[in-house]
Amino acid sequence: MIKKIAKEPSTPLFPVPTVLVTSCLKESNPNIVTIAWTGIMNSVPPIVYIGLRPEGRYSYRLIKDSGEYVINIPTVALAWQVDYCGMVSGSKVNKFKETGLTPVPASHVKAPLIAECPVNLECKVRQVLALGSHDVFIADVLAVHYNDDVQDEKGRLDMDKIRPYGYCGNEYRLIADKIGTYGYSKKG
Ligand SMILES: Cc1cc2nc3c(=O)[nH]c(=O)nc-3n(C[C@H](O)[C@H](O)[C@H](O)COP(=O)(O)O)c2cc1C
Repeated sequence: MIKKIAKEPSTPLFPVPTVLVTSCLKESNPNIVTIAWTGIMNSVPPIVYIGLRPEGRYSYRLIKDSGEYVINIPTVALAWQVDYCGMVSGSKVNKFKETGLTPVPASHVKAPLIAECPVNLECKVRQVLALGSHDVFIADVLAVHYNDDVQDEKGRLDMDKIRPYGYCGNEYRLIADKIGTYGYSKKG
C-alpha cells in the first residue's frame, strides 16, 4: 500500500516555469527579474499573473508604478542568465549589461522584449492582489511575439526547438521528451 506522509501547508507545485520579466519606468534603464510564481488565469481575454514580493525587489516598484511588464520565456540555453537575474537586484546592477541579453522595443508597453527569449508576452496590469508574502499582478496580454526560428511549418511553436525547462523545488529541470498531445487519450 502507498503510505502518505502529511506535512505543513506549503506550495509544492511543480514543474512551474521560470520566466524573465522585464519592466521599466519611462524608456530608460529597463530591469529583468526572474519569476517562478507565474501562470495563466484566463483564455479569452488572455490574462496572466506574476507573484512578486514587495521587499527587496527593484522590479516591484517599476511594475507597480508603470502598470506594465513583459513575460519573456527562456530556453534551456539561457538557464544561467535566468538564475543570475534572480540573484542580483536591478537597484545595484544593470542586468541587461551583465547578462548580455538584448532589449528589443515592445509594441504596446514601455518595457522591452528580450530578443534571445523565443516567446514574449506584453502585459498591462488590471489588478493587484496583496496576499501576504507576495503581491499578485494580474494582467491582460496585449500582444505576443515569437522568434521565427522556433516555429514549425504550420506557424506553431516547436518545443524541440525551444527546449523549455521548469523549476522543481529548488532545481531547474529540462522538460524533455514529448509523451503525447492534447486529447490523445480519446483517440483510438
Ligand atoms: C528561480 C527563481 C525564481 C524566483 N521567483 C520569484 C518569484 O516568483 N517572485 C519573486 O518575488 N521573486 C522571485 N525570485 C527572486 C527574485 O528574482 C530576486 O529577488 C531578484 O534578485 C530581484 O531582482 P530585482 O531587485 O532586480 O527586481 C526568484 C528567483 C529565482 C532564482
